[in-house]
Amino acid sequence: DKAGHKHFMAKEIAEQPGVIGQALSHYLTDEGEILLPGDGIDFSSIDRISMAACGTASYACMAAKYWFEQIARLPVEVDVASEFRYREPPIPARTLALFVSQSGETADTLAALRFCEGKAQSILSVVNVPESSIARESDLVLPIYAGVEVGVASTKAFTCQLTVLYLLVLKAAKDRGVLSEAALADHISALRGLPSVINTALEQNTAMRDAAYKLSTARDVLFLGRGHMFPLALEGALKLKEISYIHAEAYASGELKHGPIALVDEEVPVVVFAPRDVLFDKTVSNMQEVMARKGKVILVSDAEGIAEARDGVWATIEMPKIADALTPILYAIPAQLLAYHTAVAKGTDVDQPRNLAKSVTVE
Ligand code: F6R
Repeated sequence: DKAGHKHFMAKEIAEQPGVIGQALSHYLTDEGEILLPGDGIDFSSIDRISMAACGTASYACMAAKYWFEQIARLPVEVDVASEFRYREPPIPARTLALFVSQSGETADTLAALRFCEGKAQSILSVVNVPESSIARESDLVLPIYAGVEVGVASTKAFTCQLTVLYLLVLKAAKDRGVLSEAALADHISALRGLPSVINTALEQNTAMRDAAYKLSTARDVLFLGRGHMFPLALEGALKLKEISYIHAEAYASGELKHGPIALVDEEVPVVVFAPRDVLFDKTVSNMQEVMARKGKVILVSDAEGIAEARDGVWATIEMPKIADALTPILYAIPAQLLAYHTAVAKGTDVDQPRNLAKSVTVE
């Protein structure tokens, strides 16, 4: 049932404020304490985290890496699951192995998990399907409570994965004594505001649709982001490729001048994710390099960022303001809706894109 929406994907995008609220309520007490299922995990005995996942779930891992390192001061390694075990990575004893999967059945992720059995101190998974194989073989399972996701392109599962991972990061920071009570309370109150901020972002639908119409005639599109916006750029490019079949690539903004800028001309739209945070000026200077080569920039930022950097850009999409650390969750909305509206404009099969399956159970 599409609940009045044209596609499951549109419905699932619109559900995000609700399901993120659900996920939060499962892990947070009224007093703002973080509750993990069962015996939980004590991060004071963990020295490093090794994460593996595929596709969109791997971008959730990448965003979480920035959080674990900055907020919890824990070193993290992220692998795409298909590369993990053949590399035969050493797994030191005080390693937490962490796997993220919507379906819980992805063959490569499951194989990576099995590689860690008997080596890592603990195996934890973040899944949408608690009865899945990955969940069954984990020491601790954190469900994301996104509800059934029908659209092949993952949307609400991604933002719920990020939400649960963020809570886990806060738990880690607390266990490791690197976050004051006051700072923790600030993080939690920002998190509780997330559903309403995401609602505000969804209200920018028309701006995202207009920008998407511009994208729909492109042959190639680039996505740029710096810091924790880099995984979001990757997610935006993946969403666009899989449902609109437009070739899209994502780069860390700073990498542009090391090669990819050779691709830029007046035919190439470049989507730039740049909230007005500490990295904003750096990203804007990369964006200006694009415009100097006549690249057409779609700037996704907040009101302040757009006011500062809008000169010469092709289109803007304004996001509400949110705590810097939470921008990866918020900026998933334009990543998803740009792809969605581009696909609708092109008339492709949004919910069942060609050559793709919802659950990939072969290597
Ligand atoms: C992208 C997408 C895929 C999945 C990937 C992992 O929109 O849906 O990239 O994210 O196949 O699937 P799960 O999360 O089920 O392991």
